[in-house]
Amino acid sequence: MHIDIQFLPFSPDPSTLSRRTIVVIDVLRATSVIVHAISQGALEIIPVSTVEEAFQMAKNFPPGTTLLGGERGSKKIEGFDLGNSPREYIAEKVKGKRVILTTTNGTKAFHLVASGQEIMVASFLNTGATARRCLDLSRDILLFPSGDGGRFSLEDTICGGMLIDQVIRIGGKSVALTDAAQSAHILYQRFENNLIEAFHVSCHGKDLVAKGFEDDLAYCAQIDITDIVPTFRDGVIRAH
Ligand code: MLT
Repeated sequence: MHIDIQFLPFSPDPSTLSRRTIVVIDVLRATSVIVHAISQGALEIIPVSTVEEAFQMAKNFPPGTTLLGGERGSKKIEGFDLGNSPREYIAEKVKGKRVILTTTNGTKAFHLVASGQEIMVASFLNTGATARRCLDLSRDILLFPSGDGGRFSLEDTICGGMLIDQVIRIGGKSVALTDAAQSAHILYQRFENNLIEAFHVSCHGKDLVAKGFEDDLAYCAQIDITDIVPTFRDGVIRAH
């Protein structure tokens, strides 16, 4: 089994998308929100790219069944039900509901890989379960950090490195890494005992702290609190 990680968020070539397991990562905060919402009983998440699309999409569903969630500039969008803090996505609010989600980077990443055969959603909250599911599928893996405005994202790469670490631990010698995957693994080893430090070093982490979302960093740094591995298929994210 080969593992690669794509450091910048552009659409991979079609043969990569059809042959590999793709794992989308946006730990601060879109994929942490998705994993947490599904673990709290949300029916499904529909990731869309724009605020307008979100409002339009909501009209397709009966009133009371659907919530609008997400952020622009990390803040809750006017007219939306929820922002982009995983702490908001609790069972009392999301159980049995569909969430239409739009965020600056994370939800766009899903559309860059949408034609993939097997697309998983990972964060620190579910890394172990994602690693096990990747190994069960026995396909080569492409980790897909959603980046930060098209740029490299430290925290997403570290989460990719943790996933690599767990796949190696379970899969042993049969796992081969590209140089990019080796780099992500080494970066993870630098921060493995202090993910919060990595968040505080990263540009997006600093920006979240400056905007008053420091509590989200601790929330998103929790490791393996759920075995849910949401899957993106036909435009919708559901529990596997
Ligand atoms: C994103 O998708 O860019 C992030 O989740 C943004 C954020 O939460 O601030």
